[in-house]
Amino acid sequence: MQKIAILASGSGSNAQNIMEFCDNYKDRIEVRVVVTDNPSAHVIERARKFNKMCVVHEFVRSDNEESESAQKKHEYRILETLREYEVEWVCLAGYMRVLSKDFLEVFYDRKLDIYRAVNIHPSLLPSFKGVNAYLRAFEYGVRIMGATLHLVDSGVDTGPVIAQGSFERSDFDTLDAVVKKGLELEHQLYSQFLGRLINKNINIVRFEKRKMVVFQ
Ligand code: GRF
Repeated sequence: MQKIAILASGSGSNAQNIMEFCDNYKDRIEVRVVVTDNPSAHVIERARKFNKMCVVHEFVRSDNEESESAQKKHEYRILETLREYEVEWVCLAGYMRVLSKDFLEVFYDRKLDIYRAVNIHPSLLPSFKGVNAYLRAFEYGVRIMGATLHLVDSGVDTGPVIAQGSFERSDFDTLDAVVKKGLELEHQLYSQFLGRLINKNINIVRFEKRKMVVFQ
């Protein structure tokens, strides 16, 4: 049984897709808990519909507090929840905070030399790292847009690629149309990954400085 947690900050369409997938493979994979840093995130409602515990850990920073120390405390609270629910894999689904190396170390897989943490990013990495990637790619005028599922490392959107998908932006696509296509693709990539996680062995292929995820 794969025990996963979803971390999300917003609407939660990816979270819903993951919960749907796991409901269909109940005997193999389970969403143990959903965590959000945003008390008004729609993902809370989505988790409720799936009878999933959604724990809100809002990020708070008191006056004069260093942001690093506030982050540490915040992550500590999240880790306590993930420990309580015996989580093995962390699935980021529109989670808007960058996880520290200390946090990730808790999910270090010694055999594979990776962190068991996955993120979906709305661009063909390494293009358009960071926030608002669909908007920035749209404004740049790229014709081939896409999404990337990748392992998380201590950088921002820099971890080993698991899978990518692309779609063409037509002459008349609005930003909304592009986001819609992108989200559908993101859901496919996440479902495909979860399917492989429960059916195959995950492995890492090493190049010079990079790793790539393969399933055998
Ligand atoms: C997605 O586009 C994801 O790639 C990005 O944030 C968005 C979250 O969407 N990281 P949702 O909350 O899953 O609908």
